[in-house]
Amino acid sequence: MRVAVTGGLGFIGSAVLRHLLSDIDEDTPEVLNIDRGTYAATTGAVAAVSHLANYRQANVDIADGEALRTTLEDFEPDAVVHLAAESHVDRSIDGPGEFVRTNVVGTFEILQAARLEAERRSILDQFRFVHVSTDEVFGSLTMDAKPFDETTAYDPRSPYSASKAASDHFVRAWHETYGLPTIITNCSNNYGPFHFPEKLIPLMIIKARAGQPLPVYGTGDNVRDWLYVEDHARAIVGALRRGQPGETYAIGGNAERSNLEVVETICDLVDEAEGDSVGGRRELITFVKDRPGHDLRYAIDSSKAQRELGWKPSVDFTEGLRRTVDWYVANESWWQPLLDERYAGERLGTSAGEARR
Ligand code: NAD
Ligand code: TYD
Repeated sequence: MRVAVTGGLGFIGSAVLRHLLSDIDEDTPEVLNIDRGTYAATTGAVAAVSHLANYRQANVDIADGEALRTTLEDFEPDAVVHLAAESHVDRSIDGPGEFVRTNVVGTFEILQAARLEAERRSILDQFRFVHVSTDEVFGSLTMDAKPFDETTAYDPRSPYSASKAASDHFVRAWHETYGLPTIITNCSNNYGPFHFPEKLIPLMIIKARAGQPLPVYGTGDNVRDWLYVEDHARAIVGALRRGQPGETYAIGGNAERSNLEVVETICDLVDEAEGDSVGGRRELITFVKDRPGHDLRYAIDSSKAQRELGWKPSVDFTEGLRRTVDWYVANESWWQPLLDERYAGERLGTSAGEARR
């Protein structure tokens, strides 16, 4: 199999590539990593596989249709796994335009390029297009509501989730209208190695180690359903190999935690890792002004994926968080340059009300 992966220098895309290229139970595909290299991209995330003969990389912007078409024509993929996106809700509040460009226009361009390439080689029916999306397209749950599943109505509320919802609709349209065999996954919040330090878990680990204030938005009662990134990568590859064209799969970790619980646990794990008395770092927790339009709760019922893809989460949250803290402690050489050169840990997403593109 020849698989083009978009966004493979990012957090989840790199985990997909590492999994695809190291899974000894399956045939190893030829892969092409299509990534424009935004602030969120690092070559360190693919260092474990990028030396392999069946790994290739193309520095292409998915919003550039012409470049994409040439790239796919050269590579001749049998499948596309599409992860390239702007992924941070807070940045989408400050600058929504880039989210429309990459997540909406970019998804249109990769769909169109994949379709043209599959038609060119007369392999439309066998082709697979896996679109990696988020549970945030379903909006915000109340505390007692049942978790999202594949039947939940779309109700996005942030510029990020609106752009991802739009992309999901385009994917479905390319299946219904042009017969492109598409599969959509809607996954809950991920965490683990190579997570860009703007996101809650890595940001708190890094700030807790440095003894800096830990900014918890609002009351800290917002709930997310956390999935270890390698489990998500297995689900995506499962959808590629065993998913039914036209179907959607909800993927989640069965690990709902309030933000405050998550940050408190990180504090204790960092205390432990640094050899300090456990509990001390909880003093750093600082409640700050809430995120505009902050979704209260996300949760996923992944029984369809478990039934039909033969997948289930394998890393429980306590174990996964411990591994993640240990990874950030051991891999300062990966994240410190990002803080020095790309993002210094400042608050993002407070500019609602100011008009910006
Ligand atoms: P990320 O921000 O870590 O990485 C995104 C990657 O896409 C980067 O390497 C970046 O360079 C690349 N990219 C961005 N714009 C591009 C463009 N125009 N052309 C080519 N490449 C471009 O994101 P992530 O957290 O790994 O998320 C990957 C996908 O998974 C996204 O589609 C996201 O919506 C989805 N998702 C993320 C989560 C999560 O918790 N992080 C959960 C569910 C779904
Ligand atoms: P985030 O990692 O940005 O993911 P998402 O918004 O896609 O769920 O945030 C996870 C949760 O943590 C979300 O409820 C917002 C909250 N949060 C904070 O409380 N403080 C922070 O500094 C950040 C980045 C997030």
